[in-house]
Order: sequence, then C-alpha cells, then structure tokens
Amino acid sequence: MSRLSPADPNSYSRPDQVMVLSLHLKWDVDFSRKVVSGTATLTVDHKQKDATHLILDTRDLTIKSVKDEETGQVLQYTLGEAHPNFGSQMKITLSSIVKKQFKVQIEYETSPKCSALQWLAPEQTAGKQHPYMFSQCQAIHCRSLVPCQDTPAVKITYTAEVNASPGLVVLMSALRDGEQKKGSSTTFRFRQPVPIPSYLIAIAVGALESRQVGPRSLVWSEKELVEKAAFEFSETETMLKTAESLCGDYVWGQYDLLILPPSFPYGGMENPCLTFVTPTLLAGDRSLTDVIAHEITHSWTGNLVTNSSWQDFWLNEGFTKFIERKIVECLHEEKNARHFSALGGWKELSECIRTRGEKDPLTCLVPDLTGVDPDDAFSTVPYEKGHTFLWYLETLVGGPSEFEPFLKAYLDKFKYQSITSEIFRSFLLEYFVDKKDVFDAVDWEAWWHTPGMPPIKPKFDEELAHVCKNLRKRWVEWDPAKKCPFHCDDLRNMTSNQVREWLAQLLEEEPLPVIKLEKMDELYNMSSRNNSEIKFRWLRLGLKAHWNNSVDEALKFVTEQGRMKFVRPIYRDFYEWKEMRQQAVAVYEANKDSMMHVAAYVVAKDLHINE
Ligand code: BES
Ligand code: ZN
Repeated sequence: MSRLSPADPNSYSRPDQVMVLSLHLKWDVDFSRKVVSGTATLTVDHKQKDATHLILDTRDLTIKSVKDEETGQVLQYTLGEAHPNFGSQMKITLSSIVKKQFKVQIEYETSPKCSALQWLAPEQTAGKQHPYMFSQCQAIHCRSLVPCQDTPAVKITYTAEVNASPGLVVLMSALRDGEQKKGSSTTFRFRQPVPIPSYLIAIAVGALESRQVGPRSLVWSEKELVEKAAFEFSETETMLKTAESLCGDYVWGQYDLLILPPSFPYGGMENPCLTFVTPTLLAGDRSLTDVIAHEITHSWTGNLVTNSSWQDFWLNEGFTKFIERKIVECLHEEKNARHFSALGGWKELSECIRTRGEKDPLTCLVPDLTGVDPDDAFSTVPYEKGHTFLWYLETLVGGPSEFEPFLKAYLDKFKYQSITSEIFRSFLLEYFVDKKDVFDAVDWEAWWHTPGMPPIKPKFDEELAHVCKNLRKRWVEWDPAKKCPFHCDDLRNMTSNQVREWLAQLLEEEPLPVIKLEKMDELYNMSSRNNSEIKFRWLRLGLKAHWNNSVDEALKFVTEQGRMKFVRPIYRDFYEWKEMRQQAVAVYEANKDSMMHVAAYVVAKDLHINE
C-alpha cells in the first residue's frame, strides 16, 4: 500500500527525505492524440543522507524511462496502485546515486483523460479554425501533467521548451523566452525564476493574440475577443500599483491576462505571470473586474506566501479576498464598497453553510483533509470565513492603520515559503506582543476548528445595501392582487453590483410567485441582461419559483459556459425541482465530455449520479 505524506494528506511525496528544487520540461503537444509527451528533468536534493527513494505523485501518466541525466544510468522505479483521486505513487530508487544534488530525467506522456488538461476541437473555439488546449492544476491535478512532488509545501523554479504546430501560440505561467521555427513546428521557451508550488504550473495553446494594456501587462485571447478584453481589463496597472502599495514589490516581472474559452471552470486562476480568466467577466462595463483584483492579490498571498497543504487553503484565499476588497475600495473611491462586498460575502457564506450543513466538518476554516479530495472540499468557506476572521483581527488590533503594516510585514517575512495556520498565528502574536491582552479574547478553536458560521459577525456598514434591501422588501411584500407599485426606473440608480445584491437577497427568501417574476421581467428586462452574475441569480430565482420560462435559458447557460460557480448551483436547483431533474441529468450527460474534468466530476455529485 502506498502511503500518503504525514505533512500533506493529499500527496505521496516526501520532500523531507528528497526534495525537488527545479524542473526542466521538454514537451510536444499532440492535438490528434490529445497527449503531451516529452521529458521532465528534475533537479533534486538529498535532504536525508540515508533516504533511498525519490517519491513523486503521478496520475494517469505513461512512464517510458527514468535516468540519471548526467550519467545516463537507468533508474529503477515502481508505480503504486492508482487511487481514483490521488493517483499513483511513483517511487524511484536512488541507491546508486551518491551526490547530494543530481538530475533525474523522466520520459513520459499524459493520458487523453489527464485531469489537468482540457482539449478543444476547432469548432469549440471562437475562431473555429484551430484547436485549443489549456490546463488547470490547482489543487492536485499537476500530477496528471508532470510527475512531481504535488504538494504546495515544495517550491521549484522551472524552464520549458514546448513544440506546437503552425498557427498555434503556447503560453505558460512563466516569462516568455522567445520562440523558434523548427521544421513544421515552433518551439516556445519559458522560464520561471521564482520558486513556485506545482499547482501554479500552467499551459495554454491556441490561436492566441495579445494587446498591451499596461507597462507590464498584455491581454491574450483568441483574436475575436482581444479588443473587448483590452477594454474590460484596462485598469490592470492601477490595480497592480494599489496592490504593491499594500503588499510590497511585485516580484514576477510580467503580469499578463489570458481569456480562456467558456469551459474554463473558474472565474480566475492566479497562474504566475499569466492569470487565467473566464470570458464570463467580459460584461462590457468593467463591473466584474474584482476578480482581476483578486488574482493580482494572489501574486503575494498564495504565490509568494503559500499554504503548505490544502488544509490551510484559507491562508491563500481568505487573505486574498481580504486584500482584494481593500484594492477595489481604493480603486473606485466608493465609500463603503468594502463593507458592501463583505456583506455580500457573508451572505454567500451562509448559503454555503446552509447547503453543506452546519455540522459538516469541511465547513471548518482549517479542515482535516485526510482522504478528502480538495475538489470535494472546495467552497466559499476558506474565502469568506477566512476574510471574516481577518476582518475581525483587523478590528481587534485597532483598524487598518495597525493591521496593514502587519500584513506587509507578514508577506515580507514568509515570501518564497509555504506556511501553516499555526505559523501565521505565531507571527501575529509576535508582531503584536504589546497587544497580548486583546488576543486572549480570540477563540481560535471556534474560528479554526468548529464547523458552521463564524463565532462573531463583524459590524458591516449597510449603506450601499440599503436600496437593495428596500427593493427586496417591496417585492416580497407586494400583493399581486393589488395595483403594481413598481416602475421601470426602479433599478436606474443602482449599480450593477447593487442589482446583483438585490437578486441575491431575493434568493434568500421563499421562492417568489411566478407572477412577480413576470412583472419584474416586463419592467426591468431581466431576461435580456448579459452580466453573468446578474443572469446567474435571475435564472436561479426562476428555477426556485418553478418558472417554466427559465428552464431553457438555464440549460443553455450551463451548457455554453462551464464556470463552476454558476453551473453547480443551477444544476442543484434543477435537481431540487423534481419534474425537471431528468431533463437536467440528460443535458449534463450530453454535455459532460465537453466539460473540464473537475467540473464534470463535481456536477455528477451535485446531481447524485452514480450513487
Ligand atoms: N485560486 C482560485 C481558483 C481555484 C481554487 C482553482 C481552488 C482551483 C482550486 C482563484 O484565485 C479564485 O479564487 N477564483 C475565484 C475568483 C474570486 C474573485 C473569488 C473564482 O474562480 O470564482
Ligand atoms: Zn483566489
């Protein structure tokens, strides 16, 4: 039996024995077979003199050979039994190698069902001429792309040479180091000189073009979307500067954005030097760019100071949410924007905990992930409970003027490292030694290890939420037998985020009668709105009300884009609506092969398929 690591229950690797320091990749991208093949050369360091094996994580990889790169000597290895989520342990025997540092070259290829990659046929792209491929490694999918120590506790630098056929451009989470035509293909070179955890290795291949939007930023996408994206994300440099003022220097050199095809399963992914984002952010009015502020923030929280296992995921996401909201407030000079957004986050957290159950151990801020796939644990909890905890601490120490210098010191202290919640706590207490008494009040056990809502709700200012609340109340209380008191101008003075919040509040109520939804649609043109966050909540209101009008639109929405934040709740709503359940399952079955692995995997669970 292969044993998982005591330090990281989601990895087989044992970096305490032998640790990987850097990686060189030589890859061919083969669209006809849907595989990446080539070599991964790992520079490794013998940490424990008597360690006899290098242990790596793999998943669905075909290993062809393993050698000591310098001598060419073949190295023996075994592949353990495949766990459906964690993959197979690869154990390479090192007994013949005596040097402290050496290079292991692994020749291998990925499987067409590689969980980190999605392969799209030309018809599935905007341009329809060229195929497309992209990766999503977080949390534990890197092992299906490269044999590696797939734990965020290990940080490596990497270089890569990737061959692709004409018309295609290769991008990675690294600095671009030039390209060269070679026969019928082009080789693209990359270099990531800052040590990163495996989950930040990323690649995209497609007919990509770019436009400069700032001194260190290009926006990349298929040419059909480049202009729109350049407009939408024109605030990138301002956001970077604001982030630097809060967090310290930006160490990654370049900050580019790549707009992926609609099946990209997340809103954004903080791949270093090249954030990946969903095209559902292209609202046309820059109203959804808080996601960019979020991914920029990860350049510090996550990418520089990293959770050492997925159990400490809130150190990545809670801190990022917390700083993201400070950046957005600063950028838009909107008084109380941070409170407004935090209030919305609190509501999302309570919905999440209501759905998962308040006793669910995975609603702990620091959960035990022994035997648990991080994709199953993923939720709003690390984001919003983490954010609320930091908000609480900020208030406790006397507000931003005290807490922001602490944040900077924390990021500086732990940059280039991976840390646990416990290490964060020690540093916090050490930094605020003279405030020792205030920390005696903190119930760490309740915040970190108790499921359910946080023990304390901060006082969020409700000023910006006021119009939303009023309008919600009026719609809930209106008796449709009486005269309609609403007007098409009701939403005129609300920002799109306030409209989104108003719908979110209505979703907390008992389902509205269909007649009210019809009236809303007639007055406010709800069905023709294209802002994805608004559309998402509007469709959900319809499904909860069992409004037949919403069915086709909602099924279309979950088919034409694959962002899990939108797709999962809608499929769950369909599941709850018994008469529609079968139809939704059929749509999922027909569509699952064009979904990314992780999305298909979690939606199957949401629909209770194969149980
Ligand atoms: N790093 C996450 C995305 C992620 C988390 C991918 C876990 C795989 C496993 C990214 O930074 C993120 O949080 N994205 C959010 C955006 C946001 C503003 C909260 C999303 O995708 O919606
Ligand atoms: Zn994030």
